[in-house]
Amino acid sequence: MSSNYGNKVKISIFGQSHSDAIGVVIDGLPAGEEIDIEKAQRFLDRRAPGKNAYSTPRKERDQVRVVSGLFQGRTCGAPICAMIENTNTKSKDYDQLKDLPRPGHADFTAEMKYHGFQDHRGGGHFSGRLTAPLCFAGAVCLQILERRGITIGAHILSIHEGKDENFNPVDITKDQLIQITQKAFPTIDDGMAEKMQDIIQKAREQGNSVGGVIESVALGLPVGIGEPMFDGLESKLSSILFAIPAVKGVEFGEGFGVAGLLGSENNDSFYYIEETGEIKTKTNHHGGSLGGISTGMPLVIRTAFKPTPSISKEQSTISLKEGKDAFLKVVGRHDPCIVPRAVPCVEAAMAIALLDLYEENK
Ligand SMILES: Cc1cc2nc3c(=O)[nH]c(=O)nc-3n(C[C@H](O)[C@H](O)[C@H](O)COP(=O)(O)O)c2cc1C
Repeated sequence: MSSNYGNKVKISIFGQSHSDAIGVVIDGLPAGEEIDIEKAQRFLDRRAPGKNAYSTPRKERDQVRVVSGLFQGRTCGAPICAMIENTNTKSKDYDQLKDLPRPGHADFTAEMKYHGFQDHRGGGHFSGRLTAPLCFAGAVCLQILERRGITIGAHILSIHEGKDENFNPVDITKDQLIQITQKAFPTIDDGMAEKMQDIIQKAREQGNSVGGVIESVALGLPVGIGEPMFDGLESKLSSILFAIPAVKGVEFGEGFGVAGLLGSENNDSFYYIEETGEIKTKTNHHGGSLGGISTGMPLVIRTAFKPTPSISKEQSTISLKEGKDAFLKVVGRHDPCIVPRAVPCVEAAMAIALLDLYEENK
């Protein structure tokens, strides 16, 4: 199980949902960067469970403890190691899943690959809980990126059939992005936030779950970050975004929509801003990346999340012990929708990938 990412700024995530602790080692950060741990903790709190009716009732404080890598409040060149204790585990809830794998979850593939030795409690290393250390690493990278003029923010674009407005891909401001990250349920249209919460609540009452899409933007990326092919912006960003459990699709700019456009519609015409000499595009179907390299336009990404696999509705599965078909009703504490808690995870993943690329391209 290798949970490592990055070429220059490298992260390694460790732990399981019900082990003593989970955490992350971050290596390759530039030395001398001031890191505000309280600010990083506030970022982490946006992901923490048990805060409202639309998330899992598992209450975890997700208090981060940095054990190395900082000296007098700044990065010291040594790897940062940060740990988060698991304090609220109810492992009994997961006993039946060793025999009856949850449809849509990793129980079946983990059992086959690790021959029953995997830690199945709470989803083990496959749990969404492992996004807490991802968020801490992202919070550290965000603080460094901010000093380089790069801002990242995201909103919930859709939950099941409820749809928010899209970001304007050519005209989004830093203030708008900062404002949206401060909302407890980040949508552009606040009325839609209420509708989406009703949709989640209804799914929960019916023992079901819903998925949705997060739209995220990075502003202030200079032209020229990224490489062609395997280390391109799109390749690097999609590989870390797909590491977030339950992600099933990542789109850049117009995404799958490009397939239905003519070249004359999809091509983004260049122009000069007279006063500054900057080069921009009139539209932003390319989403900020051409040839895997940043164009200086807003980097626009949409990430699709599937409905939470663990639902209390009865489902067909198999009994591995008995070797026959069986039924399963999942018990325990689960998110009826992953999307609201995944918003900071998407921002964090983007920050890690962009700082890694930025440092490599320096
Ligand atoms: C923040 C977050 C919370 C999650 N919470 C749950 C949960 O409560 N129950 C569940 O079955 N899956 C949850 N998941 C999703 C599973 O971890 C994921 O579907 C599973 O590991 C299989 O991976 P895959 O969907 O990427 O194939 C969560 C994911 C994230 C990102």
